[in-house]
Amino acid sequence: MDKNFLWGGATASYQCEGAWNVDEKQESMWDHYLHLQELENGDIASDHYHRYEEDIRMMKEGGQTSYRFSLSWPRIIKNREGEVNQKGLDFYHKIIDTCHKYDIEPFVTLYHWDLPQYWEETGGWLNLDVCQAFEHFSEVCFKEFSDKIKFWTTFNEPKWFIVNGYFIGNYPPGLQNVQKTMIAAYHVMYASALSVRAFRAGNYPGQIGVVHSYTPVNGVNDSIETKIAMRYADNYCNNWILDTAAKGEFPIDLVAKLSESYDVSFMEEEHLSIIKQNTVDFIGLNYYARTLVKPYTTGETQLIFNHTGKKGESKVVIKGWFEQVKDPNSEFTAWDTEIYPKGLEDGLIEAYERYQLPIFVTENGVGVREDVTVDCVNDDYRISFMNDHINAIMNAQDAGCDIRGYYTWSPFDLYSWKNGCEKRYGLVAVDFDNNQIRKPKKSYYWFKEIIESQAKLI
Ligand code: NOJ
Repeated sequence: MDKNFLWGGATASYQCEGAWNVDEKQESMWDHYLHLQELENGDIASDHYHRYEEDIRMMKEGGQTSYRFSLSWPRIIKNREGEVNQKGLDFYHKIIDTCHKYDIEPFVTLYHWDLPQYWEETGGWLNLDVCQAFEHFSEVCFKEFSDKIKFWTTFNEPKWFIVNGYFIGNYPPGLQNVQKTMIAAYHVMYASALSVRAFRAGNYPGQIGVVHSYTPVNGVNDSIETKIAMRYADNYCNNWILDTAAKGEFPIDLVAKLSESYDVSFMEEEHLSIIKQNTVDFIGLNYYARTLVKPYTTGETQLIFNHTGKKGESKVVIKGWFEQVKDPNSEFTAWDTEIYPKGLEDGLIEAYERYQLPIFVTENGVGVREDVTVDCVNDDYRISFMNDHINAIMNAQDAGCDIRGYYTWSPFDLYSWKNGCEKRYGLVAVDFDNNQIRKPKKSYYWFKEIIESQAKLI
């Protein structure tokens, strides 16, 4: 590995900070939604707000060289008028300064799903004004932090918060409406371009990208019908985000297909030209699994995601487009995610061929139920998972891809959205029930050796 290759872990404000109403932080859409539904929430999470120093020190002691985290919009901006909360800015200065103190490169996400509730109340991502508000929030952050930050990203995983929030309805705002899904998706990609435009206009140092949960699409065979299904799946899974952010264009065939059944008049020339002119410098690629598909046969659209930990429940069928299938020979996690490291190699090669931009692997990890009361969680499964995925990155590098970093999800245990705290991804165990005690797992020490040896894998 190149000596500048960044090694670290990734988190998100809502999933780790806690302190949900401290220091004038406003309510986010997730605070509101989970409080209303009385579900396990991130009010305290890993209490990173108060324990960031210990967490970042442990990253350093674990040999890590970078920390990817997100800035909470409702912590920084107080209201729809755009008033800034100095205490919110101060908190992120502390995080960033602590990173620098330990020689850890901060890598910033502007939006990791915690929209301010005061914007959600006006329609959230269905409201075009939210795009301008995101541009304003971005500008505040660029002005405040850009002398300390080299790597910025606009959105984390538009696919997940849009599909889950507007199409499946299992994330806030809990809608199930295709027309609204399209509008919200479009607004997010437009807001991302506005943020890139503000970054370029301010002539800030550093680079800006977007983070996408890339799932390379495989087909069950080589038939022409399967190839067509694969293209539909690729447009649904990947292309509407990366083609748009990296090439400045929504996939033409996707727009044509959607316009057969839906109204696409919200796509205005002025927005499209801003999108065209403001593409990203690099791609952040999160990898968890591939998508294996066969041609659509019959039945209604179904998008079932597994938040219960029961196997065999997840399924995506899009009527007239494709059906997702499972490889019976593959291994799956307790949450039904296929373990398929080759998909990372394929995805990196495909994304690099398509966009010719540097890539950071901004998330990769495995969620498991673990007993964290022991002295050291013996997570050999995580070691073997990470080992195989880092190996896949090295294969992609050998094939000529420009890959600049690897971030495991996550450096310490976090709150995991609808899965609460029982789905653990961390290299450091957090005992949420006992004073938030932190203890490194076996994988933490293993990762340290990998980094120090520059990836001499087992
Ligand atoms: C994707 C998201 O970015 C993150 O918020 C989530 O918790 C992890 N992957 C694990 O599912």
